[in-house]
Amino acid sequence: MIDLKDYGIDMWPEDKIADFRRTLLNWYDQEKRDLPWRRNKNPYHIWVSEIMLQQTQVQTVIPYYHRFLDWFPTVAELAVADEERLLKAWEGLGYYSRVRNMQKAAQQVMTEFDGVFPSSHENISKLKGIGPYTAGAIASIAFDLPEPAVDGNVMRVMARLFEVNYDIGDPKNRKIFQALMDKLIDPDRPGDFNQALMDLGTDIESAKNPRPDESPIRFFCAAYLHGTYDKYPIKKPKKKPRPIEIQAFIIQDQDGRFLIEKNDQGRLLGGFWSFPILETTFISQQLDLFSDQETVLKRFSKTTTFEESYGLAIDWSSQSFPLVKHTFSHQKWTIFLTKGKVTTISPIHNRTVAWVSRNDMANYPMARPQKKILETFFNT
Ligand code: ADE
Repeated sequence: MIDLKDYGIDMWPEDKIADFRRTLLNWYDQEKRDLPWRRNKNPYHIWVSEIMLQQTQVQTVIPYYHRFLDWFPTVAELAVADEERLLKAWEGLGYYSRVRNMQKAAQQVMTEFDGVFPSSHENISKLKGIGPYTAGAIASIAFDLPEPAVDGNVMRVMARLFEVNYDIGDPKNRKIFQALMDKLIDPDRPGDFNQALMDLGTDIESAKNPRPDESPIRFFCAAYLHGTYDKYPIKKPKKKPRPIEIQAFIIQDQDGRFLIEKNDQGRLLGGFWSFPILETTFISQQLDLFSDQETVLKRFSKTTTFEESYGLAIDWSSQSFPLVKHTFSHQKWTIFLTKGKVTTISPIHNRTVAWVSRNDMANYPMARPQKKILETFFNT
């Protein structure tokens, strides 16, 4: 346990802490949002909601949440779910490793915990993909354990309350906010206390457009009272995602079916289906290997590289398409589309491919960039 004084923070006396809890929870009782996962305390439901809420905002999560529980109503069913259906359930949310980890955790529940979701913070934390935030959220909301759930929202609210002069984006500072929350959390209503801060942090005390004058806890907030609200939280700007150029190939056979390919496991978007793509920097690296650029351009143009690596002969179209852009947390893709028709069908080795009609495309899980490619292709 750390000493908050070492970080320049003076914790309040007990009566002020009690007053703070009352003020926050009274506000929550009046203002709390009616959300589907707040209607029962089923740990599986809460777990699903919390993992989804790490990806995107509440309004987007709600339909995903209902469908997920419809498809996989219990931990036991999630544990044995088919991979394609699992990815389909997550399609559009991003960070697919999260749902794969959820399945592994569900299998752990079945094998290590006799099919019963663990009810201690220690055992919840043993599940794959459940870090300190999620463990705290499930322990407090589903099991009434006094465990903080410290995410970016909570750190922001805490940083303003106590004028914390430490970067909230630096993982080693998390322990400061955890220690603050350990002192503040209401032992009688820990789940509501955590969720009150989540509601406050996503709306009135949001990062971009906070409304400090409306905050129910403004008279506890050092930054508000001292006129330093704009300075907190301290947060260094994130690294920019790396720009990458991608060439995507929309290839059709004589019947108009499209060539799609399943990505290798372990790669970005492993397990998903996509139109064949090549990174154009990869192609220019090949070009650099040779001095005679003319010949090289002929041999290693994007299209011949494609034809060679897939063993197909293609009649290329000169139609141009708008650029498709997609940003992941670490990469920013600019995607060029090229269209062509196969002239001779031959088997494609070393790859998992399928020729599918436009109507059947929905049966193959595709990630966001591929969906954007589809939209651009059909709307051009
Ligand atoms: N964000 C993360 N968890 C949440 C919850 N339980 N309620 C509202 N917003 C959240």
